[in-house]
Amino acid sequence: MSDRKATLTLDGKSYDLPVLSPTVGPDVLDIRKLYGEADVFTYDPGFTSTAACESTITYIDGDVGELLYRGYPIEQLAEKSSYLESCYLLLYGELPTHDQLSDFTARVTRHTMVHEQMHQFYRGFRRDAHPMATMVGVVGAMSAFYHDSTDVNDPWQREVAAIRMIAKLPTIAAMAYKYSVGQPFVYPKNSLSYAGNFLSMCFAVPAEDYVVSPILEKAMDRIMLLHADHEQNASTSTVRLAGSSGANPFACIAAGIACLWGPAHGGANQACLEMLKEIGTVDRIPEYVAKAKDKNSGFRLMGFGHRVYKNFDPRAKVMKESADEVLGLLGIDNNPLLQVAKELERIALEDEYFISKKLYPNVDFYSGIILEAMGFPTSMFTPIFAISRTVGWISQWKEMIAEKNQKIGRPRQLYIGAPRRDYVDLRHR
Ligand code: SDX
Repeated sequence: MSDRKATLTLDGKSYDLPVLSPTVGPDVLDIRKLYGEADVFTYDPGFTSTAACESTITYIDGDVGELLYRGYPIEQLAEKSSYLESCYLLLYGELPTHDQLSDFTARVTRHTMVHEQMHQFYRGFRRDAHPMATMVGVVGAMSAFYHDSTDVNDPWQREVAAIRMIAKLPTIAAMAYKYSVGQPFVYPKNSLSYAGNFLSMCFAVPAEDYVVSPILEKAMDRIMLLHADHEQNASTSTVRLAGSSGANPFACIAAGIACLWGPAHGGANQACLEMLKEIGTVDRIPEYVAKAKDKNSGFRLMGFGHRVYKNFDPRAKVMKESADEVLGLLGIDNNPLLQVAKELERIALEDEYFISKKLYPNVDFYSGIILEAMGFPTSMFTPIFAISRTVGWISQWKEMIAEKNQKIGRPRQLYIGAPRRDYVDLRHR
């Protein structure tokens, strides 16, 4: 470690803050001893300037629009890799050999079924329950069924829990969809690919044979790969914080799913498509751009902006190309929503408000257009994000649990409430 230091001067006293250097990215001021030495906290409510952990998994350079999974650029992985191969990379740190990938794929494939009794859960929900509500409940309940993979201190149980969740999340999400449309659950098929199996569990019906479309299978796999991990985003930070208490892995992933649901985060893909539908036609775009620029409107362009990317989200670029390709292959390239999205992007990126605030389309801007073209209702967009991100959550959780001096996360606060005061009896109030 270098001996570079920053010096903080406060009330005439100086405090040395060691400077930690990353492989790539900004240097980090180590303030772990600050409170003990200077009796002060730092204040950063949205964690805009705060590194909460060390990690070797994913790196984002928001200024140039770069995203690396274990050092590999997302564009190269989207073109040449697959979701399960990227899962292996995120989990174990290196691209697998042929045999390693075959073994990993076989292990995931053999865990795709859920305990038969879990089917009863779904009947307790209303048919119109949002699938994210169902997923939070069912994933959290997995700890009630898979007791042999809940001991976070046992590396083997951590490994089994990881495989089980990567394998079962598509099944759980597909069952939530089937339940919402009143169709029977479709069991996983080991002969299908990860993405193909998910499409089959969502769209196959007992009345006829279902053939997975290679176009949709490839598009689904690419969408999952693009969403697999993304540094310390809100839901990943939720999983890490839940995991820091020693909670079982299923409970931690359920917490991540709950956080992802918000429209400022993973819920944006559903909100974005609903926004594009509300805009409806290209001639109404200026009205909505004006609303997005009006602070008092409370309206934001969903699928636009990002805490880290102050340039293009590289995933949005790949997603836009994929939207053109998939809709073209499906013969719906004149899709009005795609036209509205492209024109909205063009207008916004020429507008000073968006330019000055460095607001670009993010991963959620185009994904919904592809998912709707595949036949998914908007309510299934965030569940698909959750399926994809499960490997990222688990990889980050495993990294945290394995840290030798791992501590429970416990932020402090800037207290601006009432100072100590005595109780006042009711008769004197
Ligand atoms: C995801 O963290 C991750 O990595 C997340 C994610 C992942 O893979 O895990 O990438 C997935 O969550 C993508 C983001 C999806 N959310 C949306 O598309 C919702 C719309 N976007 C925003 O709400 C917003 O851009 C955020 C939440 C994404 C980022 O918010 P920040 O970084 O806290 O920025 P901010 O809210 O402080 O906004 C900065 C300025 C503000 O104006 P000022 O107060 O400075 O005048 O930009 C404005 C905002 O009003 N602004 C927008 C805007 N986003 C920000 N104005 C209009 N439309 C928008 N979409």
